[in-house]
Amino acid sequence: MDEKNRIDTINNIKIFTGNSNIALVEKVCRYLSIPLGNASVGRFPDGEIDVKVDEDVRGSDIFIIQSTCAPVNDSLAELLILIDCFKRASSARITAVLPYYGYARKDRKDEGRVPITAKLVANLITEAGADRVLTMDLHAAQIQGFFDIPVDHLLAFPVISEYYKEKDLSDFVVVSPDVGGIKIARQYSNHLNMRLAVVDKRRMGPEDIEVGFVIGDVEGRNAIIIDDMIATGGSICQAARVLKEKGAKDIYVCATHPVLCGSAVEKLAEAPIKEIAVTDTIPLNNHAKSLGTKIKVLSVSRLLGEAIKRIHTNTSISSMFNDH
Ligand code: R5P
Repeated sequence: MDEKNRIDTINNIKIFTGNSNIALVEKVCRYLSIPLGNASVGRFPDGEIDVKVDEDVRGSDIFIIQSTCAPVNDSLAELLILIDCFKRASSARITAVLPYYGYARKDRKDEGRVPITAKLVANLITEAGADRVLTMDLHAAQIQGFFDIPVDHLLAFPVISEYYKEKDLSDFVVVSPDVGGIKIARQYSNHLNMRLAVVDKRRMGPEDIEVGFVIGDVEGRNAIIIDDMIATGGSICQAARVLKEKGAKDIYVCATHPVLCGSAVEKLAEAPIKEIAVTDTIPLNNHAKSLGTKIKVLSVSRLLGEAIKRIHTNTSISSMFNDH
């Protein structure tokens, strides 16, 4: 821990968490040289969530770090109950830190009689008593507008792009697995000085994907497919296959959030993919660990820690991304 990153605990910043991603939270605490706040987030005999904070938080600047990943509803409920607890304990300010914002894909009414669950989650977090939100690589950046409290939206881009920069890859093309991902893929292609290609993907259902043509030249080149998340693995694995059919050489994949549900791990193991890089916004489940060296986890703990420090000290967060 660098001395310059040290925040004296007399400044009254406190970090707490539920059970969704304790390893990441411990790393953030190490970066900030702050002990993890003393709270228990357990269960009553009937399964309801039982929270007890075991230290004084009156007047404190509270950061609750909780990815709303699987078990999604438990993780979300733990976050809401923690926020309520700190509000009633007279903390000065509560920031809900969601390295991964679950339910984000339900962000619009794309057919009749469906909810906008991403907005509902925003309402719940606000109504519970959060004063601000810090999150990372939202599925759709406009989810920020679902909140009427400040939202800081971090990008894992510096962590992921530095990883590939250090690999010193030549003759590579950056690939977006769908049209919606072009903006972020272009950012990588500019930064890594690589060409850009796009896969034409159509989603017919949660696990049903159709991939058509590829826009851009991939023949004889290595490829890095960039996505915000890998859920069932359908998008990434189909994209990898179509790139292979079009003559791509080695295929690398990276995604910020390793949701890895359903048969994602089996699909990734079989797909023509050389390496998968993900971040630790969501902990890898034991099943995913069976991918061995095919999956590489990059940590966003420093990025989150730095953002928390800057929120606490009222300094710019956007300047963290100026060089990228
Ligand atoms: C789609 O819009 C997203 O960016 C991801 O490509 C998608 O959510 C991944 O889902 P799956 O792994 O189930 O294809």
